[in-house]
Amino acid sequence: MQAVVLVGGFGTRLRPLTLTTPKQMLPILHKPMIEHVLEHLAHHGITEAVLSMGYRPDAFADAYADGVCAGVKLHYAIEPEPLDTAGAIRFAALHAGIADRFVVVNGDVLTDLDLTALVAFHDAHHGEGTIALHQVQDPSAYGVVPTDDDGRVLAFVEKPAPGEAPTDLINAGTYVLEPAVLDRIADGRKVSIEREVFPAMVADRVLYASPGNTYWIDTGTPAAYLRAQMDLLQGVRGERASGIHPTAVVAPDAVVARSVLGPGVRVDAGAAVRGSVLMAGAHVGAGAVIERAILGNRAEVGPGARVDDVAVLGDDASVGPDLRVSGGSVGVGEHLEVSPARVGEG
Ligand code: GDD
Ligand code: MG
Repeated sequence: MQAVVLVGGFGTRLRPLTLTTPKQMLPILHKPMIEHVLEHLAHHGITEAVLSMGYRPDAFADAYADGVCAGVKLHYAIEPEPLDTAGAIRFAALHAGIADRFVVVNGDVLTDLDLTALVAFHDAHHGEGTIALHQVQDPSAYGVVPTDDDGRVLAFVEKPAPGEAPTDLINAGTYVLEPAVLDRIADGRKVSIEREVFPAMVADRVLYASPGNTYWIDTGTPAAYLRAQMDLLQGVRGERASGIHPTAVVAPDAVVARSVLGPGVRVDAGAAVRGSVLMAGAHVGAGAVIERAILGNRAEVGPGARVDDVAVLGDDASVGPDLRVSGGSVGVGEHLEVSPARVGEG
């Protein structure tokens, strides 16, 4: 079975990290996100995947120059301009000559959902499409999907206002689609599967959905990108993983807890790193504190500084000695010499 993997978005909520690396090439525990996604698909019998690319396609093609990732054969479909989710699916499926029922996944979702069972559900219900569902506390950031008892979708409401969602079951970003769905997607313009195609399929009563009860996270915000890796470190998805790359150097009296330290990361004497992700070559000066933060490649934190509260440092950013960065971000290559005003101050 073939899969279309959507990886063409701009990843705006993860800027400045995504200014230099497309979201699905950001590391999740030392391995690009896309590899985790393709491993999961391979586990369920997917042998070929079309990467539906727009923004920074070079990053994927360079990393998988032999056209294979996690044992899955890759096709590269590069959109001439962003076509939005449905436009991208159509473009990619036609590019790869997909003619049988196929799978679509949002490339920024990490999940253990049972794709094999989803395909079986799809085949048993004879619809044109089946959406995997996941239960969340606050559905307002997602597509909300009420169904009847038979699993037929009654409505598809993309990102409803807080408190207005008809159910707490959301679109998990994994679909099984018949090729007939491609005929519903207009050619050569932006088409959203969430806002245009799914609502039309609901009206025609050909869309189904099946709830799962497994690990699921959309990694598309800094907090979720951190969470996804903390979950792996804490064994939420099975065996606990180690986050410290063998080439990372931690001073003997520095503290590192619940954190990912990428290749060549250095943590100097007396520093503390907790609940954070430090990408390749990042450097934490003596006595500095990094707590719930993301440091991009080669980012520098000066001695005695404090970076916390989901702050994000872009690649090659630096924070001067003794400064404090709580939340917000420091741009790619930006050198911070004065602590930024905190929200609610000055
Ligand atoms: N090729 C291509 N072209 N890919 C795109 C485009 C495009 O124009 N726009 C977005 N994508 C890709 C993104 O890279 C991502 O992998 C996927 O499509 C979904 O886009 P996001 O920007 O991450 O959407 P979202 O997280 O706000 O919402 C979507 O995912 C939720 C679950 O994670 C929706 O599908 C929601 O309904 C869903 O609940
Ligand atoms: Mg997303």
